[in-house]
Amino acid sequence: MKFNNMTIYQIYPKSFQDTDGDGVGDLEGIRKRLSYLEKLGVDCLWITPFFLFHQYDNGYDVDDYCAVNPDFGTMEIFENLVKEAKEHKMSIMLDMVFNHTSVFHEWFQKALAGDKYYQDFYYFRKGKEEGPPTNWVSKFGGNAWEYVEKLDLYYLHLFHKNQADLNWHNPNVRNELKKVIEFWIDKGVKGFRFDVINLIGKPKGEFQDDFEGDGRRFYTDGPYVNDFLKELVRDTRLAEMITVGEMSSTSPEACIQYTNPEEGELNMVFSFHHLKVDYPDGAKWKLMEPDIEKLENIFTKWQVKLQDGGGWSAWFWNNHDQPRAISRFGDDETYHNRSGKMLANVVHFLRGTPYIYQGEEIGMTNGDFRNIDDFNDVESTNYYKILQEEGHTSQEALHIIKERSRDNGRTPVQWNGEKNAGFTTGEPWVKVNDNYKDINAENALKNSDSLFYHYQKLIRLRKEYPVISEGTYIPLPLEAKNIFAHRRKEGDTELLAIHNFSKEPTELAFSDEIKELFSDSKPLLSNVERRTFKEKILLEPYESTIFIKE
Ligand code: GLC
Repeated sequence: MKFNNMTIYQIYPKSFQDTDGDGVGDLEGIRKRLSYLEKLGVDCLWITPFFLFHQYDNGYDVDDYCAVNPDFGTMEIFENLVKEAKEHKMSIMLDMVFNHTSVFHEWFQKALAGDKYYQDFYYFRKGKEEGPPTNWVSKFGGNAWEYVEKLDLYYLHLFHKNQADLNWHNPNVRNELKKVIEFWIDKGVKGFRFDVINLIGKPKGEFQDDFEGDGRRFYTDGPYVNDFLKELVRDTRLAEMITVGEMSSTSPEACIQYTNPEEGELNMVFSFHHLKVDYPDGAKWKLMEPDIEKLENIFTKWQVKLQDGGGWSAWFWNNHDQPRAISRFGDDETYHNRSGKMLANVVHFLRGTPYIYQGEEIGMTNGDFRNIDDFNDVESTNYYKILQEEGHTSQEALHIIKERSRDNGRTPVQWNGEKNAGFTTGEPWVKVNDNYKDINAENALKNSDSLFYHYQKLIRLRKEYPVISEGTYIPLPLEAKNIFAHRRKEGDTELLAIHNFSKEPTELAFSDEIKELFSDSKPLLSNVERRTFKEKILLEPYESTIFIKE
């Protein structure tokens, strides 16, 4: 399937739209908003898990991959949603959480009951004298092994202790997962997002301690992952689908391997390095301002390497695991509209497929959480404790959690200025942001200069100009700090993209080569008024302008 000129929209159903008043979004809510999404113009809706689960990780702890959680609706509603989405010219992509199941999954329950066949579905290991089999650290904090007294064995959980890692070396596991894919393709699904899929190639046999890190080097992009993916594609209809892999702590080289079409693995990958430029020395739970120079270097490196190696990226600022980019990299008050448009342009003019996360198109900001009880996410509540154990006061810990919590991206979508922002008539499961009276979809639709219409235009332009969806990426290193610029080229058409990440006006002078190339160019898109190409430009705060030469 052709995916270069597509734009994909991510829905976190729990926070999207509630229709039955229980405070939790549902599938019917997505159906209700299909016209809105069609108006935006997106091609495909990635819906995060709504399968049967226990809520330890909001759906990423799956009890049954082929059943709809009653909190979200029924299989019939899902089938109608697929049909109606198609009428609105959109397809559906589902989220496959195949690195682990919940401990409430039938397979794990049987394993616990002593069934050896199912014990081999997971990584059960003997402990060492002094404790767990290895010192690996779970991504949500603490040791990555949980002891089961009855069996006198530990099982591996790279995430929450209720998310047990699946043993992909067992062909029975792989065959069960293939059936899941086929099941959903039969329901009319056209794409799949694979959760933390580069963690499935773990070592065979005994695992080793990691004395240099948290264990990730032993299982990230492991030696078996590519064969596992190839087999999954070979034995299912995945090759006809849109596929994207979520890659944790990966490298451009690994991502070329995953996505080069000759390899027959995936269409594209999410990587996260560009969202760690405000982590001091990679530490998520410490704060700093984003390092824009580092951000530019990461974009350049990934663009050039993947292009040279025939790979393809999925690009995004926001998802259900990230604080809102407009609060992080933009200015969500003084320059709300302009910095939102700048960030949108950055992602949509990179070489790759852009993803929009619900609410991004109206500039939703970080949540306004006041105290720890306002948070719901397991990672946030775990780290609130860990930070205090490490010596932070409760206030300091709360401050860090407010900036970093995944709940920032999970506050209910702000549809209008009515009670609970039109999300629910009941009590919302997580606090609605107080700024909903200003920032909401209804207001956005009334204002022709809104972010919503900017995104609509970006999606349309991607389809009209092959240079955006397919053009070669050419880096443009500049002296000016906080400016990210590059070129794109396709045949005789060339783009010059300039984005100012700063609150300050910044002067930009072009080289003779650029002056000559773009002297008769015109702006294709800009978030400031009356911009024309000159050899010296005084960029406005958060300006983003794309010049085109045809
Ligand atoms: C992915 C999901 C995240 C989840 C984790 C474990 O990173 O996006 O929400 O907690 O995997 O499944």
